[in-house]
Amino acid sequence: MAGSDLYLDYHGFMLPKASHSEESLKYLEKFQVKDDDVFAVTYPKSGTTWMQEILPLLLNGGDVASVKNVPSWDRAPWLEETRAPVVLDKLPSPRSIVSHIQYHLMPSSFFKSKAKVIYVTRNPKDALVSSFHFHQMASFLEDPGTLEEFIDKFLSGKVLFGKWTDHVKSWRNPELGDRIMFITYEEMLQDLHDALRRMLRFLGRELSAEALDRVVDHCTFKNMKSNKMSNYSMVPQDYMDSKKSAFLRKGVAGDWKNHFSPELDAKFTAVIQEEMKGTNIRFPWDE
Ligand code: A3P
Repeated sequence: MAGSDLYLDYHGFMLPKASHSEESLKYLEKFQVKDDDVFAVTYPKSGTTWMQEILPLLLNGGDVASVKNVPSWDRAPWLEETRAPVVLDKLPSPRSIVSHIQYHLMPSSFFKSKAKVIYVTRNPKDALVSSFHFHQMASFLEDPGTLEEFIDKFLSGKVLFGKWTDHVKSWRNPELGDRIMFITYEEMLQDLHDALRRMLRFLGRELSAEALDRVVDHCTFKNMKSNKMSNYSMVPQDYMDSKKSAFLRKGVAGDWKNHFSPELDAKFTAVIQEEMKGTNIRFPWDE
């Protein structure tokens, strides 16, 4: 299928028609943000599903039993997706909401609210590799072509939700002040206990040591991969073909090294560095 049949154009961004509609985007624009809403914002393939697992548990006092029978996309719905109008208004507060949109496209009520944001960044090379495999398994996305071709699309922003650099920069808006916390996927991988303690402090919440252990255990890659409420096995095979790639595929940092040639790495790094020039945004993978 041609790209135009698969994607909607929303303010110049490509969004899959399979999960977005004109109605859901109108709903997004009029959405009434509450002060105690918490958003997890990510560029695609940077840990959204992980945050859909984590955030509701941090906000519900670590009550793992209450999420056992609810799919991740209903625990922390996407603000912009077709299910939003169905689930978001019914979700009890404090609500966990995820989004891939850039800062300036948030609903106007967000800017007047005190709602908090946890922004998760992942090494763009790993987000790209994850997305490449996702495009191969998801029938509602365009075939990614070769990795080299996909890298060109990624660097020119002709991919879902636009350029990685624009996304990252858009959310570094000083207007947000202490309403936003930045964390990386890699920090979460390295020490999930510490990452969750930082999130709890940011949210002004506490969990007992036992509850925190329970949440960490529930949110490990291994346990999420075998949890049908989180591993996308409920999605029909002709939509997401798990024989081509698992949705929860590897869950590691640095898989790009198994995919990028030195030439592709040099080209990718040069473009990203050029576009991040003049900002003071630094990531562990830049060192
Ligand atoms: P890989 O394809 O590299 O394995 P998103 O949810 O934003 O679409 O991101 C998906 C990526 O996050 C996938 O990366 C997936 O495996 C990874 N992921 C999801 N849950 C994870 C967890 N608990 N631990 C580590 N990585 C996780």
